[in-house]
Amino acid sequence: MPPDPIVEIDGLWKTFGEVSAVEDLSFTVQRGQVYGLLGPNGAGKTTSLRVLMGLERPTRGTARLFGERVVPSSRQLARVGAMVEQAAFVPHLSGMRNLRLWWEAGGARMKDADLEGALAIAGLDDAINRKVKTYSQGMKQRLGFARLLLGRPELLVLDEPTNGLDPGEIREIRDLITRLSSHGATVLLSSHHLSEVEQVCSHVLVMNRGRLVADGTVSDLVGAAGLVYVEVDDRERAQAILSSLPSVAKVQIQGDGLVVELRDGQRSDIAATLVGSGLRLQTIMPTQQLEEAFLEILAAGDAARSRTEQAVAPA
Ligand SMILES: Nc1ncnc2c1ncn2[C@@H]1O[C@H](COP(=O)(O)OP(=O)(O)OP(=O)(O)O)[C@@H](O)[C@H]1O
Ligand SMILES: [Mg+2]
Repeated sequence: MPPDPIVEIDGLWKTFGEVSAVEDLSFTVQRGQVYGLLGPNGAGKTTSLRVLMGLERPTRGTARLFGERVVPSSRQLARVGAMVEQAAFVPHLSGMRNLRLWWEAGGARMKDADLEGALAIAGLDDAINRKVKTYSQGMKQRLGFARLLLGRPELLVLDEPTNGLDPGEIREIRDLITRLSSHGATVLLSSHHLSEVEQVCSHVLVMNRGRLVADGTVSDLVGAAGLVYVEVDDRERAQAILSSLPSVAKVQIQGDGLVVELRDGQRSDIAATLVGSGLRLQTIMPTQQLEEAFLEILAAGDAARSRTEQAVAPA
């Protein structure tokens, strides 16, 4: 697919008085990507998404949607379904009634909404006719998705879409995002949940204290951590073979397999060596996954920053 930038953030700064929420942030989301902004509390995720949605004005830099610079009443915003605030519903009305009210309040006619598609993806089934006050948190979140989808958005902007949900509900929202993506939507979401970003996103940007710390495909970042989980038919022999490889720093037995720490992140060498030694390779995958990579990346960023701060601190 030729590149088709849907979101372009370029040199974005946002300060609130003394507080610097976003510092020199740049990234691009191409059509079809599921792009995750990953960072701890106060990293600047919500602020970045609010600027993109024209809800905050950048202090410096630009945000573009579909190639056009975002201004508060930007026409391009009509092509976006955004959930950057808690979705609110009228509790004593049904899910369906809430959808209709909300859509018609926007001045549009129900027959122009993609009600069928929205309901199919949100997966509320018969519950759509129940009062919203009987909904679980996860069902409310899915109703929120249905509402976004009425307008057939090309881009979904989701700020912490699984916040406050239990593990089962998180799984449902994750599946829902995957369904959306397979229907061709581009998704930009934020999260603190590393495992979630890892499972849902194709691309990830790690940010901390307003700054980009790392970005790339999820497998790039995971690969950067250099930890691989391997299952073979003979664990002990595999451990001996791998330990002798120059590219391997350490091999430990874990569960049914081995965790291999690489020096240079070349996973393919491991597979080739094991198979070449006549072992049967059952599983090979990055381990601890983004969690490890993320923590390492943040720690490295903090160390670098404190060195810079010391260097620039007035004597
Ligand atoms: N309207 C505002 N006025 C003052 N400071 C703000 C405002 N909005 C955000 N901030 C500050 O900007 C920084 C970034 O906040 P932001 O909400 O963007 O982070 P976040 O990554 O979304 O965090 P969280 O994971 O907690 O949602 C924080 O220090 C926050 O206190
Ligand atoms: Mg936030």
